[in-house]
Amino acid sequence: MRLDKFLSNMGIGSRTEVKNILKMGIVTVNESVEKNGKKHIDVDKDVVMFEGSRIEYKPFIYLMLNKPKDYISATEPGNHYPAVIELVPEEFRHYDLFPVGRLDVDTEGLLVLTNDGVLAHDLLSPKKHVPKKYFAILDHKITAEDINIFLSGIKLDDEYICLPAELTDNVTREDAKTGVYVTLHEGKNHQVKRMFEALGNEVKYLKRIQMGNLILDETLELGEIKELSREELELLSGTKEK
Ligand code: URA
Repeated sequence: MRLDKFLSNMGIGSRTEVKNILKMGIVTVNESVEKNGKKHIDVDKDVVMFEGSRIEYKPFIYLMLNKPKDYISATEPGNHYPAVIELVPEEFRHYDLFPVGRLDVDTEGLLVLTNDGVLAHDLLSPKKHVPKKYFAILDHKITAEDINIFLSGIKLDDEYICLPAELTDNVTREDAKTGVYVTLHEGKNHQVKRMFEALGNEVKYLKRIQMGNLILDETLELGEIKELSREELELLSGTKEK
């Protein structure tokens, strides 16, 4: 890869800024000052330093967002709401990020942002049945019968029969009466809301708390973003079990 492309892709600056940085003689390749942006480097072997720190080559980036409500899961803003991409800190903006799947505008919680199309495709593929776990607050309490209906595959308003889903009462919280956890193995539009509607119930609040084996980091404030650790990435991609 050309040195100037490498430096700008790794977020050092725009193409013009990188040109000036190179002119200043503060970039070294294998310990020799390099001012020529056209020079080709081997991103795996060559050691590129900028202001004394090594610039590691990272083609892909994986971010966890605790999505707040009133943001759409998109790269461009909608008519009424901004896009989640606007929450991305400056240091990650140069990556071509997109959200992995969608949460409704009023849904909160775990949303992964990446530029890795292959991983996103794998996570969203209907064939893979990657589980997604939600916490929901309902209009009224669920029954044992509701749990069985979810397990055997509930029929939605358009006659679609959902894959078996696990529904559990939340007995440890104050809102135990109406707070439930639901795990889906597919991802239809507004699915959780439509499943409860089919039971004659209503979702008042919805938050995604898990995707694959990756659990939402509860220390993230709403709207806050962090880069996934290697372990979290393995949990997400399924190469590591819980
Ligand atoms: N199901 C819904 O109804 N909404 C979401 O945002 C996600 C799952």
